Amino acid sequence: MSNLSSRAVVISGGGSGIGRAAAEWFSAAGDSVWIVGRRREVLERVASELGAGVHPVVADLSRVEGAETVRAELDGIDVDVVVASAGGTAAALPEDLAGIARKWNADLQQNLLTAVMLVESLRPYLRRPGGRVIGLGSIGAQLGSGYGGSYGAAKAALHAWIYWLAQDLGRDGITANLVVPGYIPNTEFFGDRVTAEFDEVRVQRSLIGRAGTSAEIAASIGFLASADAGYITGQLLGVNGGMVLGR
Ligand SMILES: NC(=O)c1ccc[n+]([C@@H]2O[C@H](COP(=O)([O-])OP(=O)(O)OC[C@H]3O[C@@H](n4cnc5c(N)ncnc54)[C@H](OP(=O)(O)O)[C@@H]3O)[C@@H](O)[C@H]2O)c1
Repeated sequence: MSNLSSRAVVISGGGSGIGRAAAEWFSAAGDSVWIVGRRREVLERVASELGAGVHPVVADLSRVEGAETVRAELDGIDVDVVVASAGGTAAALPEDLAGIARKWNADLQQNLLTAVMLVESLRPYLRRPGGRVIGLGSIGAQLGSGYGGSYGAAKAALHAWIYWLAQDLGRDGITANLVVPGYIPNTEFFGDRVTAEFDEVRVQRSLIGRAGTSAEIAASIGFLASADAGYITGQLLGVNGGMVLGR
């Protein structure tokens, strides 16, 4: 590594939205960044835009093979920061039972299992002490989101998992926290769901009358990864413009 003070940072979902903004944030801080996702061309484009310190890793983290790819890629590297940003949901809940089962499985895999498998794949390499795990929760878990309930439920499970992880990794001096965003439309999360009315409804829920940005979420992730945040663990940091108060 060229920069002696640079950290090794692994970000799932680093090809778009919040994960990409986090990759930009850590890259600008001089860190080496591995971005993980399923779409090679997306990851390679981000890596070429952000510079030589950003490395694409093509892997589906809902599959064991994907986690093994990440483990092999980071073999022998002390990992300072893990950001589990992979997630998402399909808009509609199918009406037939097979479709409902498919959507619930998909949301649990995409939002919960990807985070678990990312952290478990890197567990042997996490810097001890001083490592940082930061996941992405959701206001959907706190409000009871739409999308058939499966997305909010999957994120709520993530909230419970981070509490356990903080206890489990705490004895090695590693912290584990979640950033819990509100409404961040400059991502791929909402697809073509963002109409003027959709936006207006969500902006009005904010106490400061606007949506958030992926850069603001990245800055909170960066803070939780910093030395100044070393005594913060097992917490949910809401970054939601006041859409949910203090929990
Ligand atoms: N945007 C919001 O308003 C909002 C609000 C609350 C919480 N969040 C959470 O914030 C996180 C980031 O979302 P975002 O808003 O930045 O949306 P996004 O732009 O859609 O980013 C999600 C990323 O996850 C990756 N991903 C999905 N499944 C994966 C898998 N199985 N393996 C590896 N990578 C996978 C996707 O890349 P590939 O398709 O290439 O794999 C994509 O880059 C998510 O966990 C989301 O639930 C977002």
